[in-house]
Amino acid sequence: MSTAIRDTKPGDPSRLPDPTVEAKRPAAPRKAWLIGAAAAGVVTGALWLTRGSARGKGAVAYAPVDMLKPVAPDIWIVDSGPIGAMGLTLPVRMTVVRLKDGGLWLHSPTRHTPALERALADLGPVRHLVAPTVAHWTFLEAWQRACPDATSWAVPALRDRGAVRRSGVRIDRDLVDTAPAEWADAIGQGMVRGGAGFEEAWFLHRDSRTLILTDLIENLEPAKLPPVTAAMMRATLATRATTGVHVRAALTLGGEATRAAIRRMVATAPERVIFSHGTPFDSDGAARLRRAFDWVAPGGAVPVPG
Ligand SMILES: [Fe+2]
Repeated sequence: MSTAIRDTKPGDPSRLPDPTVEAKRPAAPRKAWLIGAAAAGVVTGALWLTRGSARGKGAVAYAPVDMLKPVAPDIWIVDSGPIGAMGLTLPVRMTVVRLKDGGLWLHSPTRHTPALERALADLGPVRHLVAPTVAHWTFLEAWQRACPDATSWAVPALRDRGAVRRSGVRIDRDLVDTAPAEWADAIGQGMVRGGAGFEEAWFLHRDSRTLILTDLIENLEPAKLPPVTAAMMRATLATRATTGVHVRAALTLGGEATRAAIRRMVATAPERVIFSHGTPFDSDGAARLRRAFDWVAPGGAVPVPG
């Protein structure tokens, strides 16, 4: 029925708007109400995800940065950052192990500084630079220039990255499922491979029972992060002492082979677990490691021969 005013005289009731048509008109207000409610939901969600985050850029890195911090005999961490990754601002961590021959093994090398180079030299010669995932390699070249005699090791998939080929970074040896003779007496090793090119090598410093990971576990603290990063990290479980959503997706694609590799890693039952982003597990490592991977390997562990 049309809403057009018919040709009638003033006062004629038929000039009034058709009530059946008027009844359908609230569509516009209803739409506006729905948009308003959705916007309020988004704002509320954003506020919830950013709750407790740092003002401004925050104290992202774990101070003091770019300094050796002892963990146990012959193992140290170096906290560094913040680094930028896909618009996010994150802390990052290197782990240093002194091998049985006195040489140093640098896992996921962070920013090179002359002071850090001198502090490392006081511990021993840098013999090995390790890029344990396809994402943790960007500071490798600076350390290669500083330590030209060191051997650079990387997960095999790193060679395929265009950015790596263009960077001029050198990769001498591939990381595989078992530790090479160069460090097998001090450090155990394994690989977790998923879909979409995900690869991460894990390491166990035998004497201190310390598991050294990179991105398989994240445990970021929102209070140290800028609001947008805090929101993204919360939304992707990177603040929950477990595997972040993006890595979960890759691991899920890996199927049973990936789950078996994770069970082998969990079976190392470490005393502590270090990873690259967030607060490490300083104690109760075996139980916390099992909980971290409950989502993919419930119950977690299988015995590891040897
Ligand atoms: Fe990372």
